[in-house]
Order: sequence, then structure tokens, then C-alpha cells
Amino acid sequence: MTLSVKEILAQSLSRTFQDLPDQSSLRFFSAPGRINIIGEHVDYAGGTVFPAAIDFRVHLAARKNGRDYFRIYSQDFQSELNTNSLEYSEKETWANYILGVVSEARKKGLTVDGFDLAFTGNIPQGAGLSSSAAVEVGTAYALSQIFSWDLSREEIALLSQSAENHFVGVNCGIMDQFVIATAKHSSCISLDTASLAYSYHSLDLPGFEFYLIDSKVKHNLKESEYNDRRREVESATEKFKKISPELQNLSDADSEKLNSVGLTEIERKRAEHILGERSRVRNVIRFLEAKDPIGLGRELYLCHQSLSEKFEVSCAETDFIVRELYSRNVLGARMIGGGFGGCILVLDKEGRSESVFSELQKEYFSAFGLEAKIYRFRISEGVREDT
Ligand code: GLA
Repeated sequence: MTLSVKEILAQSLSRTFQDLPDQSSLRFFSAPGRINIIGEHVDYAGGTVFPAAIDFRVHLAARKNGRDYFRIYSQDFQSELNTNSLEYSEKETWANYILGVVSEARKKGLTVDGFDLAFTGNIPQGAGLSSSAAVEVGTAYALSQIFSWDLSREEIALLSQSAENHFVGVNCGIMDQFVIATAKHSSCISLDTASLAYSYHSLDLPGFEFYLIDSKVKHNLKESEYNDRRREVESATEKFKKISPELQNLSDADSEKLNSVGLTEIERKRAEHILGERSRVRNVIRFLEAKDPIGLGRELYLCHQSLSEKFEVSCAETDFIVRELYSRNVLGARMIGGGFGGCILVLDKEGRSESVFSELQKEYFSAFGLEAKIYRFRISEGVREDT
């Protein structure tokens, strides 16, 4: 007999925390992973991003437990935490995404009483597909429902981002949490990260497909240079502000002034990426509307080159995969997400992925001894209650 995700989570909760109130009080939720078509490392520089949710999801079961502590269970780590403390857990690091949401919710004056929560999922971890943001947004949404916080999807995203920034310790932008909270079927979101204005765009290129290749180089943003990049962007912004005090974000800077504001070599490279990405995002949206996959693919390669050479968040393995894809005349490819490993987003004609991937996988294995994986996906919807 195959058990449903709901049954597995319900059974795990009753096995782990024996004295539970009746099962019918359990509610089920799920939150997706995400891809990003273009607009990488610009969401903390006020740029526009163009992400979408995918049909890899984190599933959560939650209920009030009528006590003054939280009982949390990770099905995938087969590990539990029974606590009323909101301290960062060095041991159960998976629990911090949940405790972080509770801690930030309380800071905002929202009521969080005792609850039970179990979760599982199929979003590959450390692959740049935002599995941790999915846990945060799934938790924020679930708690908002069971404690009747009545938050909007935008507020759920902001609460989850502050959990990541202030509790987990990664100074991420708003892209991941926002798309996971607000995504719709078959659509990308064009999100202006300065104003949080957004709109939906259909991702429809008949005869062409997007897929992912996982380099299997695990990134951990906490230990990576992600926070350094953010500081470099901030120091470049400050220098621009000295001559343009009205400037709010690096994304709005005047590219003609790149050489006249006294940037260091590093700051100049970071700024060039941010400003280059500004036009690539516009171009991609235009190519998508014109149903021009060739133009779109070219922008993906240009984005990768800029992430690798100017923003320096790629690595030998992801560069290798993108180079191999290019040499096989694949339409477009680039690393996505925070970088330093993780997944490559690929755009190509339908029906080619099998043969391209099997050749590439062999080459990649002999170069790095790593088993790359291919993920096919559909564009999916954001966090939801699964009734
Ligand atoms: C990570 C962060 C996002 C964003 C991307 C890079 O996924 O969580 O906020 O900065 O990296 O675009």
C-alpha cells in the first residue's frame, strides 16, 4: 500500500509525539521550489527579477497543540525538536527555518501558541531551487492559517524573508520568498524588487522547453560569499550616492558614471553585472512576448558569463556545464540562484534534452567525478492549503 504524503506526515506526528489531540485538527499545506529565468543577484539592488515556481514542493502538516511549546518533525531528516525556546539550533539546522518564522512573527506582535508541524518534500537541497525559502513560506502560510493572522501573500513573503535574514543569518533579497508566496500556474513573475510591484507573464514557447541540470555541487549560502556580495553592492551604491544623492538602488545607477564615482575594481565589476542584468531582464521579457527563444537563449548565456566573470558567483563545475551546453548548440543556459554550485537552467528545442544530457553527464563525470542530474519541471503555483 502506498501512503499519501498527508498520511505519512500524520503518522509521523502521532508516532513521534504520542499524546496528540485528534487527527482531524491537522491541516495540510505545500510550498514550491523556484527557478529564475533572468535577473540574478539583483533583488538586493532594487532590480527586476523574473522567477517562477516549479512543481517540486515541500509538504507540511500543522495544527495547534494547545500547549506552550512547538513540536516539529522533519520527515526527510527523521529528526524531531520539542522546544519552547526560540534560539538558533546548531544541531537541528533544518528547524531554524521554522523557528525563524515563529521568532519574527512574535517580533511583529503576531500570536503564536504551541503547535505541531511535520514536513517533507522533493525540492533538491542546496541546488539553488530555494528549498529553505519553501519551508519558511510554507510555515508562515500554515501558521497564518491556523492562528488566523490573516496575512496577505506579500506579507507572508516579507515575514519569511526576515526569518532568513535575522534568524538563519543569510542576508538574502526578496525574490525567493516572494515568488513562492505569490506564484501562479504557467506564469513567471516580473517583480520590481524596489517597489514590490509585480505582474504575471505566461511562459509559453511552443516547441521549446526549459529544464534543469544539477551540478551536484552543494551550495550553502550561509558559508558562501553571498553576504559579501551584498556588502560589495552596498559599498558601490554608497559611492554612486555621493554624486547622485537621490539614488536609492544600484539598479537605477547611471552606467555612464561607472568610471567616475571612484569604485574599486571589485565594486566596478559587481556594478557592471547589476546594470547589465537590468537590460537583460528587459530583453528577455521582450523576447518572450515576441516568442523568440533564440534571442532569449542568448541572454541566458550572457547572464551566465556576467555572473561568472563580473559577479564571481559561479564555480568551475557550473562554468563547465554551461560551456559544454554552448558547444552542443543548446539555445541557452545559465546558473540560477545564489550560485557557487547548484543548478543550471537550460532552454532548448523540445526533444533534445535526453541526448544532450547523457553526453554531458559522461564528460562532467570524467572532469569532476560528480554525477550530474537532470530535472524536468512544470511551472506551478505558489504556497497553498491542500484540502
Ligand atoms: C538566493 C537569494 C535570493 C537572490 C538569489 C540570487 O536565491 O535567496 O534573494 O539574491 O540568490 O539572485
